[in-house]
Amino acid sequence: MQRREFLSAAAMGTVATLARSAAVIPQPVARPVVIGSVNGHFFKNGGQKTVIETAWEMMARGSDVLDALIAGVNIDELDPADPYVGFGGLPNAEGVVELDAAVMHGPSKRAGAVAALEGVRTPSLVAKAVMELTDNHLLVGTGAQHFARNAGFTIESDLNTDTSRQAWLDWKRRTDSANFPDAARRSLTEPAGGFAYSTHMYGTIHCSGVNTAGDVCGVTSTSGRAFKIPGRVGDSPILGAGLYVDGRVGAAGSTGRGEANLFSLASLLVVEGMRAGKSPKDAGMAALQRIRANTIAPRLRKDNGDPNFNILFFIVNTRGEHAGVALYGEDAGERGYAGQTNSEFARYSVCDESGPRIVNVEGLLPGTPQQ
Ligand code: GLY
Repeated sequence: MQRREFLSAAAMGTVATLARSAAVIPQPVARPVVIGSVNGHFFKNGGQKTVIETAWEMMARGSDVLDALIAGVNIDELDPADPYVGFGGLPNAEGVVELDAAVMHGPSKRAGAVAALEGVRTPSLVAKAVMELTDNHLLVGTGAQHFARNAGFTIESDLNTDTSRQAWLDWKRRTDSANFPDAARRSLTEPAGGFAYSTHMYGTIHCSGVNTAGDVCGVTSTSGRAFKIPGRVGDSPILGAGLYVDGRVGAAGSTGRGEANLFSLASLLVVEGMRAGKSPKDAGMAALQRIRANTIAPRLRKDNGDPNFNILFFIVNTRGEHAGVALYGEDAGERGYAGQTNSEFARYSVCDESGPRIVNVEGLLPGTPQQ
């Protein structure tokens, strides 16, 4: 789609948005953009378009920004090749796939989320239903599943794939060889799927976007920490942690160690930093500094005292200015999507009038987490 066609289509979307809600206050014209975690640039679920391409094109056609982002994220949630999101996501310690997701709609200041949801491949759509159908912001566990069933979602008995089931079995053999004794006869190296459990326990998709009117929204969806304690909820579905959107300021979403983000509510910090006048990058760096300062437990620190994990933020303001930041810019936190090695840079995905691409994030600290 050409820039002129896009701007015209997006302007029509703006009129539709304004007509839908008299409460929406017109924002300064923004440079439209969709940004996200790097998996937003890789997965297509067998189709033609990636997450960010899908979201961008829908936004350009005048779709509500959140609807466009969710449609994009659904591609990744449904794609069994992403081992950290939706269908085929890495299961919990009992081998059950439990999913977390949150959505936030900036213009209307609405939000919805689900946590520890079993049996629905697209938790972001259930989060949207929570936002649209209930007076609540977060439903969890069996309650979230009952809600989803009543809202018309198909509930499946198992969201594992052969790959995620095998990954769980490999993990059991490694950690519980008394009960799973095959370990002695098996290679303990990572499976062909390409994830190394010691350093890649977390994976998530985040996607946020801004249209020409400055309408900003965001989505975060994950299967959470690999082989987690059943019921563990990470940052992704918690407003202010894995996702925060203020329609007048911008959006921030995260991937990486959710516990660090939960402790600092760092996506909220990022948005508040932008509200105070910081650029997306500077707001992100300030939040990372807070996480670093809050990381005092020796087990979470490297020999030099820095955090021994990575966390990334994807940040956009209502003008369409954006940044990707991480504790460690050199840590390929999304290893495995395209055969990267650990020495590659952490990245984020961007789609704007120049097309889809991946961009290196800015790192706060030198080096990488220790292995
Ligand atoms: N950041 C994803 C999680 O910790 O669950």
